[in-house]
Amino acid sequence: MIDQPEPTGIAGAILDDAVAALAAGEVVGLPTETVYGLAGDAGSRSAVEKIYRIKGRPADHPLIVHVLGDAQARQWGAWNDAAQRLADAFWPGPLTIVLRRLIGAPPWACAGQPTIALRCPSHPIARAVLARLLPQGISGVAAPSANRFGRVSPTCAAHVRADLGNEVTIVLEGGDAEVGIESTIVDLSRGRPYLLRPGHLGADALAAVLGEPVAAADSAAPKVSGSLASHYAPMKPLRLVASSQLDAALAQALAAGHRVAVCSVVRPQGEGHGVVWRSRSASVDEVERDLYRAMRELDAAQVDLILMESPPGEPAWSAVNDRLERAAAPR
Ligand code: TXA
Ligand code: MG
Repeated sequence: MIDQPEPTGIAGAILDDAVAALAAGEVVGLPTETVYGLAGDAGSRSAVEKIYRIKGRPADHPLIVHVLGDAQARQWGAWNDAAQRLADAFWPGPLTIVLRRLIGAPPWACAGQPTIALRCPSHPIARAVLARLLPQGISGVAAPSANRFGRVSPTCAAHVRADLGNEVTIVLEGGDAEVGIESTIVDLSRGRPYLLRPGHLGADALAAVLGEPVAAADSAAPKVSGSLASHYAPMKPLRLVASSQLDAALAQALAAGHRVAVCSVVRPQGEGHGVVWRSRSASVDEVERDLYRAMRELDAAQVDLILMESPPGEPAWSAVNDRLERAAAPR
């Protein structure tokens, strides 16, 4: 694991404040490489309760516990061979591993489930916070995405302040999230691996390291809030449209009197009056990085309908397609 240089000056002072707040049971906005989290001491019942209250998250949806490394993960979950392989290959990074929770590990983040979700983030500020909390006896930080329940995840500090600024006084500045969508979640608590949430790290990459296929989640899988049909949703209706149908769908929406935002690789025909266009990259990494920012911008535009060009169907795009299908699901 690479040690990061400690932030100094103003950044260092704010880091000190954030660490002190976390140690005192407060919650802070924390940058990670995937999305920004709303962080609190996972060992503190009241800190975890604050997270639920501020997010408006239902009490039966468990939170991910962030750790500095596998040594800390072992204090929370029943570590196994598969976990070790995945941690060696992908931690620190955008992978969350679900394990059986150890008897005696604080259960507050687990929403009554016998399992616990663990992630070792790579963002240097998240790591600096976790490293400084360790000597204070805090080995895990619960951090769901720092947005209100069901809405679009934040990928920069300004998004967190816009959503939760009234309730959260400290939001650490960590730049734009490098990955941009939430971590891949794999369940290793049930004998064979299950994919609970697709992410930047694909199931094929996990399977290659594990030496066995990673199954899609079934009905016995633990509850994942991102698995609700409508999640990650902008405020305005969003429709996914195949590239070949885009011009026709736009013409139809305009004829019906809509003010329309279009997000597509190629500028649509008839773009102009009453239409806001936002270009979309053709690269999957860039689309992941930009997805939530694009949704927020289109939500804020003077339109009442968002038309989003459907991305390709290949496995590499499965996380993007997953998020977009939920964003487009009827509410
Ligand atoms: O990238 C991420 O994972 C971000 C950053 C902040 O690390 N966090 C994040 O947290 O996306 P959240 O709370 O928005 O999503 C946590 C997901 C939920 O879908 C939840 O149901 C699932 O993890 N989860 C948490 N504990 C679980 C458990 N014990 N078993 C199964 N799923 C669990
Ligand atoms: Mg979330």
